[in-house]
Amino acid sequence: MTVAPWQARYLQRMGIDLWRRRELSDASAQTPVVSDGVTTEAADQRAGDWQALRQTVSACRLCGLCETRQNTVFGVGSDSADLLLIGEAPGAEEDRRGEPFVGAAGKLLDNMLRAIDLDRQRVFIANVLKCRPPGNRDPKPEEIRSCMPYLGTQVEHLQPRVILALGKVSAQALLESTAPLKAMREQWHQVGALRVPMLVTFHPAYLLRRPEDKAKAWRDLCQVRDLLGGAA
Ligand code: URA
Repeated sequence: MTVAPWQARYLQRMGIDLWRRRELSDASAQTPVVSDGVTTEAADQRAGDWQALRQTVSACRLCGLCETRQNTVFGVGSDSADLLLIGEAPGAEEDRRGEPFVGAAGKLLDNMLRAIDLDRQRVFIANVLKCRPPGNRDPKPEEIRSCMPYLGTQVEHLQPRVILALGKVSAQALLESTAPLKAMREQWHQVGALRVPMLVTFHPAYLLRRPEDKAKAWRDLCQVRDLLGGAA
């Protein structure tokens, strides 16, 4: 696994050990294999790193949002998902339950996933921010800067085949851009050291306000489904 030097510095400061894919030597080839050439030792290490990241996030005090949150929201789904969906930040209900997209926008997101034959157990859903901005205000740039290394590590760990950015805030943070959503949609981007293909679509909360744009969101979802080849 490769991470950008800035990301490594942040992660080191947070005491996070990065997961590294082991090259199989002759010796390790003798150890039991779980699947896809991954040894039980490597799988244990991987699970441990994921758990450590989860704990680091839950104890995070890198920005002021830790003062007002009820819960951190790490993400939900399969840690072997092919599709990673990334929203903006937890809202009130997500903060209360510690799970992303559980309010009205979450119901729509579940329906969007079902439309391409997926559900939240088979994908992974995360946010740019792991804590709720009070009053659901927009995330501040310094909050995004503090929190992004967690998301970067999640991407490195999950190694998804496709990322779907939900809304402008998420897309801008991932692309380090200030472009409007319109300019970022309808093209494949590549994200992070792993250059994961990423598409940008509308945030489900926006679609609740502007249902006339659901047809465009459906076109985005079909592109994701096509790239995944029906298996996510
Ligand atoms: N909106 C988001 O962007 N993320 C959530 O988890 C909930 C609402």
